[in-house]
Amino acid sequence: MCGIVGYIGAQKAYPILIEGLRKLEYRGYDSAGIALLDSDHVEVMKSVGRLQQLEDKVGEFVPNGTIGIGHTRWATHGRPCDLNSHPHSDCTGQFVVIHNGIIENYQVLRSWLIREGHSFRSETDTEVLAHLVEHFYSGDLKQAVRCVLEKVKGSYGLVVMSEKDPHRLICARKDSPLVIGLGVGENFIASDIPALLKYTRNTLILEDGELAEVTRESVVVEDCHCNPVEKIIFYVEWDAISAEKEGYEHFMLKEIYEQPKAIRETLRGRITADGLVNIPEINLNQEQIKKLRKVVVVACGTAYHAGLVGKYVFEKLLRLPVEVDVASEFRYRDPLIGADTLVIVISQSGETADTLAAMRLAKAKGSHVVAITNVVGSTVSREADHVILTWAGPEIAVASTKAYTTQLIVLYLLALQLGQTSQLISHEEIITITDAMKNLPADVDSIMHKTEALKEFTQRLSVWNDTFFIGRGLDYAVALEGSLKLKEISYIHAEAYPAGELKHGTLALIVADIPVIALATQPELHEKMWSNIKEVKARDAYVLAITTEGDEETKKEVDAVLEIPATLPLLTPVLTVIPLQLIAYYASVSRGCDVDKPRNLAKSVTVE
Ligand code: AGP
Repeated sequence: MCGIVGYIGAQKAYPILIEGLRKLEYRGYDSAGIALLDSDHVEVMKSVGRLQQLEDKVGEFVPNGTIGIGHTRWATHGRPCDLNSHPHSDCTGQFVVIHNGIIENYQVLRSWLIREGHSFRSETDTEVLAHLVEHFYSGDLKQAVRCVLEKVKGSYGLVVMSEKDPHRLICARKDSPLVIGLGVGENFIASDIPALLKYTRNTLILEDGELAEVTRESVVVEDCHCNPVEKIIFYVEWDAISAEKEGYEHFMLKEIYEQPKAIRETLRGRITADGLVNIPEINLNQEQIKKLRKVVVVACGTAYHAGLVGKYVFEKLLRLPVEVDVASEFRYRDPLIGADTLVIVISQSGETADTLAAMRLAKAKGSHVVAITNVVGSTVSREADHVILTWAGPEIAVASTKAYTTQLIVLYLLALQLGQTSQLISHEEIITITDAMKNLPADVDSIMHKTEALKEFTQRLSVWNDTFFIGRGLDYAVALEGSLKLKEISYIHAEAYPAGELKHGTLALIVADIPVIALATQPELHEKMWSNIKEVKARDAYVLAITTEGDEETKKEVDAVLEIPATLPLLTPVLTVIPLQLIAYYASVSRGCDVDKPRNLAKSVTVE
């Protein structure tokens, strides 16, 4: 996610802002910028690329100002470039804003502001905030920001500065974190604690709906009804490294726990008030969709496993044949694709060499290419015909977690959008599915509080060098992902097997007490799964089942159970994978492995 820093005090703001942004670089970004208020003039400097490029651009002529704001951008709307970098200014340049989050109704506001005579420079959603402040300002900066917040929908952590009011910064928070650092004769604002630690450990954590007026001598916090809020000072005990992980021991655990938010952000603005879907990034019309003869999903690793779930989803909802291929195979098998094929490439980084090559092959063969990626401005996002972003925020750990679940969300939305446009899926069915999707963030969150059973199983698992994941249908697709997670960070050899296939050979490897993880979430496959569980139990395996709450039958068959909330069977992969991610994480920790940077692996495989 983007990084925010703000300073108001007696020191020169520039070095404080740069140092603060440097502490936030770990979060990933594609551009950076700062604004300084030097006497009564706002100076904005910003640059695409790394922080060093911003510093090079500023050069030795550093403005003096003792009040300023800074931002590192992780692009969501508008490609990475100088103009789209923050801070953003209004028409006069007297108001500047930095912002984390997504303004869902920015197009409507932009059109209205243009009709009101405002002129825009960037493609971003954020710029509307600066023009709105200009529109509403009538002498009170805080009041102007209040009016703005009443107009906008979406998520924000924002800071506003103005040469019209050079003695305060106004900041506000909704769904995107903001922290205020308390100094003596100076105060700080940041999106994350690491940016503050060099200067203060006394902080005020803003809650959703709160707005703060920050001066050199005071911080006044109000709630969404303008009532003053008495904030308790949070003293930060963390050291700098653990602060980057926001108190989590590893980035992977932080990113596992970020999934409710990542799913919520990926859904944001994509389900309409009446429960239909709204994916404007896909501009295939009804005729083009009806001409499609098949879908091909191409990806690597975890993204490939997301594609396997997509196969079930697309075939069930659209009755279209779907092939799923690892990119390194697809590109050398002279695939039978053409103008009647929809090729979906999935890539968290958007830079995986094999996936890029597969995408280019699909384009050369005339197929429609849709990219699902987590990085704006990545190569796949620039070369595909259509791009749908997962809004998971930067994924730092090598083992992919929140990218996988948000890829699933986008695949569901894409299938529903194609079905809605082509009228292959009824509105009733779409609404039933989107209603259930809206509950997924809470469902995922509820699983994360059941870690005791998982830790107990993992203790048993961790002393083995072999284990098996079994499942049928969608559960088999998720079993593959669970197996990869465990292998890549705990180095335990794990195999994922179609449960019905065990008796055709692999059952020979089942010995007494070997841990087996059985995924049994699909009602119509329950009885078959019970038979397969009995097969391994008959060889004295130790079986942990991942089942749905209320499934009493499966419990009778196994040694341990972890229940996921009941949801539509089609959506269960988003939930089933959570315990598997946590099992892999705990196994890796108990075996003393490098969780975030496992041996031999890279976060993005940009070589073939
Ligand atoms: C997953 O945990 C691995 N890090 C790896 O399999 C990864 O999913 C694969 O390399 C694809 O990366 P991409 O999504 O960035 O293309």
